[in-house]
Amino acid sequence: MNRILALWRTAIGKKVVMALTGLIGLAFLVSHVISNLLVFTDPHHLDEWGEFLRSLGPALWLARAVLLGAVVLHIVAAWQLTQQARAARPGAYARHDTQVATYAARTMRWGGVLLAVFIVFHILHLTWGQFHPDFREGEVGRNLITGLAVTPVALFYAVAMLALGAHFAHGVWSVFQTLGLNHPAWNRARIALAVGSAVLIAGGFLAIPLAALLGVLG
Ligand code: HEM
Repeated sequence: MNRILALWRTAIGKKVVMALTGLIGLAFLVSHVISNLLVFTDPHHLDEWGEFLRSLGPALWLARAVLLGAVVLHIVAAWQLTQQARAARPGAYARHDTQVATYAARTMRWGGVLLAVFIVFHILHLTWGQFHPDFREGEVGRNLITGLAVTPVALFYAVAMLALGAHFAHGVWSVFQTLGLNHPAWNRARIALAVGSAVLIAGGFLAIPLAALLGVLG
């Protein structure tokens, strides 16, 4: 236990936590995007998927607890890494730093904040039926279609999914760095994997609010 706490206190320990919790998020997002795309086949398939999840009972609650724990740890580690980086350079720069790494880290932070706001709104919206014009318990597919028929909401979903794509690509790229798998010979493969997986997952999600905005959902 002491060893785990000692590792958590180091910057590399926090990065490992970010990588592992990010991978838990990735596993959830893969299953979430596949199940959501069922809305393009028959919205009732989404109802059946929701029913199946609820039939898991305690296992579903355990998965939710693991996911929530992963999100909280991911945010706490990111927050503490930012504070450590700030403490390491107390004086303001004489020249504003425009390094790519600094720009990417800042984009990750603000994209991460937007995603956190999105997740809270999203659960209130499609799980609890808040800000929803006509929420019906158990009718997951229908709730999705009617919920995204509200243009500002669909726009917010679309923007959040663009942020998800950027966050995701940078996260996949960074995970290799954290794990020490950063040989220059692998850079092209890393970029392909980071961009390819982000396009597949965030693109799959994005298709849904875009279809709603174009009036072709449901
Ligand atoms: C266009 C994008 C998305 C759509 C259309 C969508 C759709 C849905 C729907 C329909 C539900 C309700 C499921 C049910 O009640 O059975 C749901 C729940 C949820 N979504 Fe999404 N989702 C999207 C993106 C995301 C993203 C990017 C995340 C996380 C970063 C996310 C996290 C969640 C969570 C945590 C739940 C609650 C799951 C539970 O407690 O059972 N969603 N989503």
